[in-house]
Amino acid sequence: MKVVSIVGARPQFIKAAPVCRALRTRHEEVLVHTGQHYDRAMSGVFFEELGIPEPDFNLGVGSGSHAHQTAEMLAAIEAVLVEQAPDWVLVYGDTNTTLAGGLAAAKLDIPVAHVEAGLRSFDRRMPEEVNRVVVDHVSSLLLCPTPAAVANLRDEGITCGVALVGDVMLDTARYQAEIAPAGDALAAFGVEPGGYFLATVHRAGNSDDPERLAAIVRALGRVARPVIWPVHPRTAKNLAVFGLDVVARAAGNVRMVDPVPYGETIALLKGAAALLTDSGGMQKEAYFFRVPCVTLRDATEWVETVELGWNVLAGADEERIVAAASDLPRPVSHPDVYGDGHAAEAIVSAIEAGPQTA
Ligand code: UD1
Repeated sequence: MKVVSIVGARPQFIKAAPVCRALRTRHEEVLVHTGQHYDRAMSGVFFEELGIPEPDFNLGVGSGSHAHQTAEMLAAIEAVLVEQAPDWVLVYGDTNTTLAGGLAAAKLDIPVAHVEAGLRSFDRRMPEEVNRVVVDHVSSLLLCPTPAAVANLRDEGITCGVALVGDVMLDTARYQAEIAPAGDALAAFGVEPGGYFLATVHRAGNSDDPERLAAIVRALGRVARPVIWPVHPRTAKNLAVFGLDVVARAAGNVRMVDPVPYGETIALLKGAAALLTDSGGMQKEAYFFRVPCVTLRDATEWVETVELGWNVLAGADEERIVAAASDLPRPVSHPDVYGDGHAAEAIVSAIEAGPQTA
């Protein structure tokens, strides 16, 4: 079987790493990097660190408006798919790369397998929500991480080709922890286990909105611990444009740093008193490592983390963020809602079996 896998943004490299390994034990994989993320710190280091094979095609699309970026990807991916004529196209998550890969394949009548199918925030203002809905509706195989995702698809009338496979980010987290135990990342940042918060902010809804970003910056400056904040390039640009980088620096406890590689991120996360984030994937990673999470959004796709009491939605509301960070959730129950860390194997088996009717 020949599979074209399409990645392009940082979280997709983390998800693709275990699937590439599993797939290549018995099938041919052609790896396409759209170039949506291109900075070394956002892309290259992840390929090296996670042992992802060199992409067979790098489309070099880069940044742009949604329509422009997606359109360029569509045209370039179509050319690769026509040339390669794969049996399957594999896409991950909810970025513009996912949308372009799914659409280009569906229009060529090549079956699409979607990893992380069925997630919904029910907020159509999020570009990712639009991408999720469209890609799920053109996919032949919907590889769901959780029962909640399966239920969301059922509510939209999608029952054929749905497989509950678990969460591939857990595969990556477990595998990397085994082969490369966390070094002394904390010492490098001058923090002690449990003595600091880790923060990340990159959602368009927060980083492109001066009021929301300002409220988040003010909140980070008021919490009772040091905050290590690896700043996404989109957020870095907007902090400067809105004059908020000065505000963040003026708060003595906030330490803004460049984006950090995977292993270091996991080490910083495991040692944190809590994670303050608007990332989807990191809410889950916090759960994997039993770290309380304060989510800087009004909704989440990872509803289990909230239902189980590990995650609190604080929006971009200064007071709610400060309150949540001073009264952290301490739940006792921690069930394996994201599977057993062998989602990649389950994904390859599901592709081999082809779409089945539920
Ligand atoms: C994208 C995804 C988001 C995902 C995130 C992970 C979409 C719609 N959004 O958001 O779901 O959570 O990736 O990071 O696909 N930039 C750089 N260097 C880079 C990449 C980006 O400087 O290597 C800057 C550029 O100014 C660019 C901006 O960041 O315009 C936004 O990048 P883009 O890929 O469009 O979206 P992300 O915000 O990264």
